[in-house]
Amino acid sequence: MAGSLLRDRWVTRFGLIMAMAGNAVGLGNFIRFPGLAAEHGGGAFMVPYFVALVLMGIPLMWIEWTIGRYGGAYGHGSTPGMFHRLWRHPLSKYIGIFGVMLPAIIGLYYVYIESWSLGYAWQSITGAYWGKETQAEMGEVFTTYLGWGGGALAFGPQAYLFFVITILINFLVFLRGISKGIELLARFGMPVLLILGIILAVRVLTLETVDGRSVADGLAQIWVVDWSALSSPDIWIAASGQVFFTLSLGFGMIHAYAAYLGKDDDLTLNGLATVGTNSFVEVILGGTIVVPAALLFFGMDGIEVITDEGIFAISFQTLPVIFQQLPGGQFFATLWFLLLFLAGLMSSVAMFLPLLSFLQDELEIDRTKALAWIFVGVFIIMQPVMLLSHRGIMDELDFWVAVFFICVFAAAEVIIFAWIFGIDKGWEVMHRGADLRVPRVFYYIMKYVTPVYALALLSWYAYDGLLPTIMMEGVPPEDRWVLWLARLIVAGVFAFLAWGVWHAWRTHPKYFDDGNGEFEEIS
Ligand code: TRP
Repeated sequence: MAGSLLRDRWVTRFGLIMAMAGNAVGLGNFIRFPGLAAEHGGGAFMVPYFVALVLMGIPLMWIEWTIGRYGGAYGHGSTPGMFHRLWRHPLSKYIGIFGVMLPAIIGLYYVYIESWSLGYAWQSITGAYWGKETQAEMGEVFTTYLGWGGGALAFGPQAYLFFVITILINFLVFLRGISKGIELLARFGMPVLLILGIILAVRVLTLETVDGRSVADGLAQIWVVDWSALSSPDIWIAASGQVFFTLSLGFGMIHAYAAYLGKDDDLTLNGLATVGTNSFVEVILGGTIVVPAALLFFGMDGIEVITDEGIFAISFQTLPVIFQQLPGGQFFATLWFLLLFLAGLMSSVAMFLPLLSFLQDELEIDRTKALAWIFVGVFIIMQPVMLLSHRGIMDELDFWVAVFFICVFAAAEVIIFAWIFGIDKGWEVMHRGADLRVPRVFYYIMKYVTPVYALALLSWYAYDGLLPTIMMEGVPPEDRWVLWLARLIVAGVFAFLAWGVWHAWRTHPKYFDDGNGEFEEIS
């Protein structure tokens, strides 16, 4: 049989859950979630968020674990091969390309943002920005750090240095593989992350009243629901998108992890534990730290900074200002940025895993060679992403891969799973070795609700956001080529993978046609 056999395995159940949770818990939980929640009226955001979690997040989490374990048993570590096993149609493997492309492209800017946290952790330890006590001054620290202060290219020597350190750390873990790299990191990293998060949350909860505002007012901001806000579609779209992003769903990522399960390893209970851990960290820790602190110190202005200055402002500007006003602030500031870094790291170590699996399993490239190619390729493509980061390249990439195509991919996979492979067979495969019998209602949710939900979301994006984005509405003419470059990157990666799929299935078709997987008896 051609291709690698995915010999590496998750070794402990604790390690597996921590790794999956570590993948899900990321910058999304501590930066994106509080930012979106604040922008969309706090408490009101939580309603569509929980609806999307139950109707889409949890079912898709189970579906993706199931597809991953099923395809993994045939030796496929990435979605092109996995989808081919679910649906013997030439199209399926091409749809699967998204599950390799999306995480890899996210990795191009995610690792950079992650490196900012490391840089800021360093600046907090050394007290570099201490004394810059207003948001405006901290805003300048941020733009100086990144080299965003005008000029055609953004370059900050420190930012660059921390980027290089971050990417090296990522690849060092990644090189060591599943059990010795990713699992080991998560077994220690996740507990540390939880402790850091709890310390910071307790710190915020015990803050004293500022200008007549108490912590309770801050918490109310995120927990009191303004029901009238729910009539706007935006809030539903934003919340659903966040559920995808935070759980790393619709990216091919969960599949790639699940491929390293044994064929009888439980996935229902483990999948639910992943969602539970991620939601706890996001809602309880992420929700408690950022928004209430900003509200307490700056009132509604502290919240509005997000709408005005973008999603990073609260973490990199507002919070550092607040820490400077607290006793022991330098310590807490350092913890905060270390927390961000760890959260980012445990997600980003996996972003190139589907690509690695694809090169190894389907293109039969030797592991060391594949790793070297990925490292060089990623490093090169990241240069323009960094140098043009002040001109909208990250937002453009983010729209395509983290907003639009995840919906395409998620809608396609749930239809393939529930309707083509068939929900009855899917339900049976899912329950192999299961430690939790999923309530029957999810059978119907997976069959009807999740597909409709995903398609509705996709149609909305296609109707509302696609055309203005394609036409680059509101983008200054001199920045347009930057967005074209982003699209070129996306198209280039897609074209390469499409060639790879075509090539692999043509050169060693036997591997794909023979039923040599361990699940043969039920497929
Ligand atoms: N879930 C992660 C977070 O909350 C980020 C993420 C999104 C991710 N998609 C991914 C991580 C794909 C790895 C692979 O920040």
